[in-house]
Amino acid sequence: MNPDIPAAHTIADKAALTSGSGTWHTTALAGSVRSFLLTDGPHGVRMQQDGGDALGIGDSVPATCFPPAVALGSTWDVDLARRVGAALGREARALGVDVLLGPGMNIKRSPLCGRNFEYFAEDPYLTGRMAAANVEGIQSSGVGACIKHFAVNNQETDRMRVSAEVDQRALREVYLAAFEFVVRTAAPAMVMSSYNRINGVPASESHRLLTTLLRGEWGFEGVVVSDWGAVDDRVAALRAGLDLEMPPSGTDERIATAAEHGELTESELDRVVTRLRTLQQRLDGQDTEADDPTVVRAANARLARDAAAEAAVLLTNDGILPLDATAAGSVAVVGEFARNPRFQGGGSSKVMPTELPSVLDVLRQRLGSVPFAPGYTTSQAEPVDSLIDEAVATASAAPSTVLFLGLPEHAESEGFDRTTLELPADQLELLRRVSAVTDRVVVVLANGGVVSVAGWQDEANAVLEGWLLGQGGAEATVDLLLGERSPAGRLTETIPLQLADHPSYLNFPGADGVSVYGESNHVGYRYFDALDMPVAYPFGHGLSYTHFEYSDLDITPADTESWHVSVTVTNAGERAGKEVVQLYVGPGSEQHAAARPASELRGFSKVDLKPGGAHRVTLSLRQDELAEWDARGERWRVRPGDRTVYVGASSRDIRLSGTVYSSGDGITEPLSGAATIAEWLDHPKGAQVLGEAIEQLGVDTSALASAPELTAMFQSIPLNKLRSFGLGITADMIAGMVTRANADT
Ligand code: BGC
Repeated sequence: MNPDIPAAHTIADKAALTSGSGTWHTTALAGSVRSFLLTDGPHGVRMQQDGGDALGIGDSVPATCFPPAVALGSTWDVDLARRVGAALGREARALGVDVLLGPGMNIKRSPLCGRNFEYFAEDPYLTGRMAAANVEGIQSSGVGACIKHFAVNNQETDRMRVSAEVDQRALREVYLAAFEFVVRTAAPAMVMSSYNRINGVPASESHRLLTTLLRGEWGFEGVVVSDWGAVDDRVAALRAGLDLEMPPSGTDERIATAAEHGELTESELDRVVTRLRTLQQRLDGQDTEADDPTVVRAANARLARDAAAEAAVLLTNDGILPLDATAAGSVAVVGEFARNPRFQGGGSSKVMPTELPSVLDVLRQRLGSVPFAPGYTTSQAEPVDSLIDEAVATASAAPSTVLFLGLPEHAESEGFDRTTLELPADQLELLRRVSAVTDRVVVVLANGGVVSVAGWQDEANAVLEGWLLGQGGAEATVDLLLGERSPAGRLTETIPLQLADHPSYLNFPGADGVSVYGESNHVGYRYFDALDMPVAYPFGHGLSYTHFEYSDLDITPADTESWHVSVTVTNAGERAGKEVVQLYVGPGSEQHAAARPASELRGFSKVDLKPGGAHRVTLSLRQDELAEWDARGERWRVRPGDRTVYVGASSRDIRLSGTVYSSGDGITEPLSGAATIAEWLDHPKGAQVLGEAIEQLGVDTSALASAPELTAMFQSIPLNKLRSFGLGITADMIAGMVTRANADT
């Protein structure tokens, strides 16, 4: 019996606590724990009446629609992610929500994933930093955050059954790294286990994932909730470490029976009670007051606009932007999205915005009359000649045209993946026809996942990638187009020249219930950069209305565990603007880099500079950030040696580089009989022990000296195998060698 749990609680009472009482509420147990209201998330409060749906079909109460993660991630602004989190938290609290189901923080493995709009980046370092700040923000308002979807939930195709077949190196370095960072540094109240299987085991039933790693290694002390409907076997899930099945499947009796028959122990049920009580103490113990929802929404609408303006990424610009459009009629607007904004993704995250001006409304408010033609419909992809003709006439009568293109809602959503990166055919035809009659065209894109630009961008003078910007997108876009603000977003995913170039191409979304992560840890830019493959736009890219110079790179040890990497960034243009200074680390010259990406993001900082202004940026690089996952030793490992440090404006726009030397983590891998001769020779004591054994056996190794091919073959043999090669080496001798080699290491 657990003394902290009231003795009056029966097994049936406790079993009831392990699932909800409705779609959004957990079960209460009098005298122990109250019910919690859980609500989507992640970029706005999607509060429904109980009995609502988890698919984004039914209505929810009006709430601020902040930029979804695709856009928030593109700001590369950790402080902004925190402020947006705090604002979300305040709004959730004002509405009586206990836990907000977000942020989503899966890695964008393929640009086709229908839910990429809900995720931050193809990179775990950036994802981890942005998500942690977001969680801290949400929780600073007295509301719990629930990071999701744990783990390796990188596709929507067959999402409820597919097995992500991923090697341990990729798992640790790419797919779990951001979760690990957030759990360790931001202590989220909840973790949501995902629908998919990982190497055959359902995430919700994986003891290794939910207990060994999450709680054992990373120290998670919160509640693990299932994704909505993810649990198949509740007993297995509870034993694995899942606390809460949501929504309830009505099978609590099965849990009680399992506990009565010893299939589950009572302490496994008590554990859930304790965790829920701890959550309650945490939520109820805060001194943050709930604000008035109307006041919160007004403040949040302003922040939503600000965040949107930080997020849009200027891909290319021949100087047409910012538009010199102060007079009525100086700019024509074409594209249905200018009138009917595409501002968030489909599915469970869909928010009912508190306001939703269109770009057309905002431009007309600011400039007076603005000629407009829709050019296409959002319901089909076949070109409609009459719409295109009208758009061509509108564009040809104006000095400049802004063309709004993108993916209609039916093209991307939670629940399915795309099969192409192309824009709809009617929009491409519209662009072709419009650009034939004017030589001043700006394309503004609205899409949650990457679209190809290579085939058409030459027809535009500038391309502004607006992603899905939330309810403030229109104001933000107009500010950027008219130069009231300078674009400040940077890509968090590579835009490939074509889909077939992408590392996931041959393996996404898999077949027969299996998705093989064949690219391993070479995800996104890690792959493109290792191959030096041309891309349309690299990870980290984004222009502004000014340009920046980098100088005076200085790398100095801060202590035995870390370095300071400093660089001066100067705004060398004539407008104010923001630069995102990026720090990447790659292997040093002498290292065999086969399993190592060419470069990996290990630091970044966004600086705001007036024309001519300069700032000394110092980023810290820790030795443990040089670690790689050693699958054989099942641990992080920092190898001794040089690393190259790159500082620049994207993974491909490296301005300065230097070297750091790491003495490694000092851990010597113990030798075994399964280690190869090469590994024995590499080991500080192994070489000596091996040499003595060879001498004792009287083996003549002189032939090896003049035959490198024989040496290579010999060195690749595990020591144990030598027993079969007639050298007289026995199992006992090997055991003795292993003991001597490992003594004192
Ligand atoms: C989604 C989750 C969401 C849940 C509740 C699921 O379908 O995958 O992200 O939080 O529904 O709406």
